[in-house]
Amino acid sequence: MPEYRLTHAVTDITGRELLAADTRLTLPVLQTLAGEHKTAFPGCNLLSYCRVQADMVDFLREPPYDVIFHGADRHQAIFDIAGDVVMPEPVLISLYHFRQLDFYTYRHMLLVFALSILIARELIDDRAALLQEVMAGPIHDIGKLCVPPAILTKKTPLTPSEIVHLRHHALAGYVLLTHFFGEHENLAARVARDHHERKDGSGYPLGNPIDNLMIDIIMVSDIYDALISPRPYRPVSYNNRTALEEITHQAMTGIISKTVTRVLISLNRRLKPHYSSCTLSSERRGLPPKDNVYGRKSEDSSDPA
Ligand SMILES: [Fe+2]
Ligand SMILES: [Fe+2]
Repeated sequence: MPEYRLTHAVTDITGRELLAADTRLTLPVLQTLAGEHKTAFPGCNLLSYCRVQADMVDFLREPPYDVIFHGADRHQAIFDIAGDVVMPEPVLISLYHFRQLDFYTYRHMLLVFALSILIARELIDDRAALLQEVMAGPIHDIGKLCVPPAILTKKTPLTPSEIVHLRHHALAGYVLLTHFFGEHENLAARVARDHHERKDGSGYPLGNPIDNLMIDIIMVSDIYDALISPRPYRPVSYNNRTALEEITHQAMTGIISKTVTRVLISLNRRLKPHYSSCTLSSERRGLPPKDNVYGRKSEDSSDPA
């Protein structure tokens, strides 16, 4: 069993420390964390929470999501599924906290969630199973609550110690969601922990080659949104073609899921062919944006999203 160890403390939104820095996430520690408030947190509907639904509608109208989500039936399908998602109240309070603290991360989490639903719909037929899986999607970066805003919004490459602090968000999210959901094997908690792992073992926090469909879906959606969105350190984002070429390259070199990448490419085509007919090509015609630092050694080379 691989060992997870916290590099920094994990605190909730009120500043209460759940676990101290250097804590090993052993089974007894996780069970205590999960059991402490097992029935204390009421469930709330995600879309009904404050302006979440209206914000999602606005975000989905922005390019290139307007192409991906083109058509009333797609919007309907997203909101039909998302409308049934219920989360513990502190999770929604935390999500909404980002709306003031770090709007990029708030928008990013909702767009990754919407895209993950669209991709999951192509790969999971049963609605109940689909709902069960997509519940894990809206809050994959919740652990960024435990990263100083100065690091999240820094405009220049991060120092090695800042990278360690940024990467802390994966285990911090796992700890927070284990606590809020009351179970350490909860899929949302595992997605928070594992969405920066890579299929070739090159990711973090452990370098584990994860094999789980929903984690594969969030992984690809996360990288895609990170590439096409403006970031503090990269005011000009990748264009859609270059982003898809970068993702295709990662799929073809075994870093991320080929199947999920095919679905993403099919969703980006106006006629929406079935994903099985979309072949992956290594041809690269686009250029990354000027002054891009994505993938540089001095940065968070496996995607700082
Ligand atoms: Fe992310
Ligand atoms: Fe992340």
